[in-house]
Amino acid sequence: MDYHSVYKRWQADPESFWMEAAENIDWEQKPTFALNDSNAPLFEWYTDSYVNTCFNAIDRHVENGRGDQTAIIYDSPVTEKKEHITYAQLLEKTSVLAGSLINKGITKGDRVIIYMPMVPEAIVAMLACARIGAIHSVVFGGFASNELAVRIDDAKPKTILAASCGIEPGRIIEYKPLIDGAIELSKHKPESVVILQRPQSVASLIPGRDFDWDEFQIDAESADCVMVEGNHPAYILYTSGTTGAPKGVVRPTAGHLVALHWSMKNIYNVDPGDVFWAASDVGWVVGHSYICYAPLIHGNTTVLFEGKPVGTPDAGTFWRVISEHKVKAFFTAPTAFRAIKREDPEGKFKSQYDLSCLQALFLAGERADPDTINWAQNLLGVPVIDHWWQTETGWTIVGNPTGIESLPIKVGSPSVPMPGYDIKILDNDGNELSNGELGAVAIKLPLPPGSLPTLWNAEERFKKSYLATFPGFYETGDAGLIDDEGYLYIMARTDDVINVAGHRLSTGAMEEALSNHADVAECAVIGVSDQLKGQVPLGFLCLTKGVNRPHEEIVSECIKLVRNQIGPVASFKLATIVPRLPKTRSGKILRATMVKIADSQEFKMPATIDDPTILDEIKVSLQSLGYAV
Ligand code: COA
Ligand code: AMP
Repeated sequence: MDYHSVYKRWQADPESFWMEAAENIDWEQKPTFALNDSNAPLFEWYTDSYVNTCFNAIDRHVENGRGDQTAIIYDSPVTEKKEHITYAQLLEKTSVLAGSLINKGITKGDRVIIYMPMVPEAIVAMLACARIGAIHSVVFGGFASNELAVRIDDAKPKTILAASCGIEPGRIIEYKPLIDGAIELSKHKPESVVILQRPQSVASLIPGRDFDWDEFQIDAESADCVMVEGNHPAYILYTSGTTGAPKGVVRPTAGHLVALHWSMKNIYNVDPGDVFWAASDVGWVVGHSYICYAPLIHGNTTVLFEGKPVGTPDAGTFWRVISEHKVKAFFTAPTAFRAIKREDPEGKFKSQYDLSCLQALFLAGERADPDTINWAQNLLGVPVIDHWWQTETGWTIVGNPTGIESLPIKVGSPSVPMPGYDIKILDNDGNELSNGELGAVAIKLPLPPGSLPTLWNAEERFKKSYLATFPGFYETGDAGLIDDEGYLYIMARTDDVINVAGHRLSTGAMEEALSNHADVAECAVIGVSDQLKGQVPLGFLCLTKGVNRPHEEIVSECIKLVRNQIGPVASFKLATIVPRLPKTRSGKILRATMVKIADSQEFKMPATIDDPTILDEIKVSLQSLGYAV
């Protein structure tokens, strides 16, 4: 069948489309219907089913003869370690950890925070939670104590599963002081912390609260899968929004299973047994969906890579991993390819490896610029497939479904909507725009299985953030256009979220951190273009009256402040002191205009601007940092 027929089949009868897709999941109790619209505009899928994610990701494969197949290939150039874990071994490790969690009194519905680097135990931890119906929330290791504390207070975990350290090129990140700091800051106090002691840095444990990973599991018995309702939250993943408070995206169990299974063949064109590699981090949605869950649910082998595209040890690392482990489909963010291109523009490292196993490269997480796509395509000689999605959806909104039909690639477009997604481009008043016109990208409700039904403990915020602007639609926060052949082009965000090296960050959160500096009276953070990371944050600081300390000192303190409060991942390294900020007469800071000036783009003088001469001052400040030239 071709893409258009599949899409039309979904449009004509979404209910039977998703009931048929559900046949690929092993249910304790099969759903009798797919969509539950009884509480519209909030929707659920497969509400009356009973199912377990871990059973579908591990047990059923062992029962069906895949026990000896490698489930996880751990490849860690930063520790010079490699390990193959079979499905049978994964079952053993996961069910014992699940048993230990039960021994600690953790049961269905309890939250567990996972704060771990890219080690196999991170996946074991996620699956062990799923096994007993506990709701995990993985926090990316690049976030500092304060961000971890915010998530602890929102998710209220009974326990934290963590490692003693993460490893960044050239330095060890000790996790334990960050965890202790977070628990000190948080109002909610988790009962226990379980630490995987890594030899690179052994953490000291607080007696009574902290447990060693191995000792914690010594007397535990294997736990069986606990079946949960189809709408039971599988996990919470916090993501950046406009304000400093992150949004707890809830992933529903049954829809997640069905959608991810469907995506593996239809989008990525892999069959059970094939090796799939997503070079991301378990702390991001790509890591949840395509390092952990989807490949395992589908019976693939997943690669867990603890390293960077360059410097671990060189710009040929990706090619080594692909050839050594026979990767068939590879998924990463464009920034990784920009990093490789910068180190090895002629792609010389590639000649050392046989990459004939590779079928396609998939890119997502940020806009894939044509230069990067063309370079990757020329180097690898395989299709480079851009696809667009969000933490909120958990799988592709717009892509090229290579397992159904490889559609012609239009460089700069992630291609076409997947079944389940009816995309419209709307103007500010919610009117549908014609082909070629730029507007807000919105998705007609309901969203398909797998996407968020709500935000954790914040239904009103969910409605306000996503459903209020365009009634009947989900607001994606992206702006774009659709061409005459139905291809979507994503152009920009419509809010204050920025994308730094494929990481989604809130400028609002950085502004909140900066305003804690005693000398800062007011500030604004914008995302400016960056050749490697796509965007980087840049802060404008207005000082409190009477402060006359050296500006460099204040700037450097502010940079440290953001690093300590949000984390190194914010990449906040640029700030400048300005006498005042450009605002509208009603007091709104003109961030979008500042971005245009920084990126040397043309801009219209906002009609509501209070004092246009401020823009000249901003330009001069930007020029001193090498922007707006
Ligand atoms: N724990 C602690 N610190 C971390 C971290 C982690 N898990 N991940 C990143 N950091 C730190 C980095 O060490 C760096 O610190 P520095 O400012 O002291 O140098 C900072 O956070 C910024 O990291 P990053 O944005 O990753 O930049 P980088 O310069 O280290 O590497 C790339 C640049 C392009 C190589 C890197 O961003 C990359 O591999 N990107 C792949 C994209 C990706 O995985 N995206 C995920 C979504 S699909
Ligand atoms: P995240 O939730 O971290 O996956 O970030 C989602 C956001 O990243 C989207 O809303 C887009 O702004 C951006 N994004 C992700 N994939 C793409 C893509 N293929 N093209 C353009 N932007 C993308």
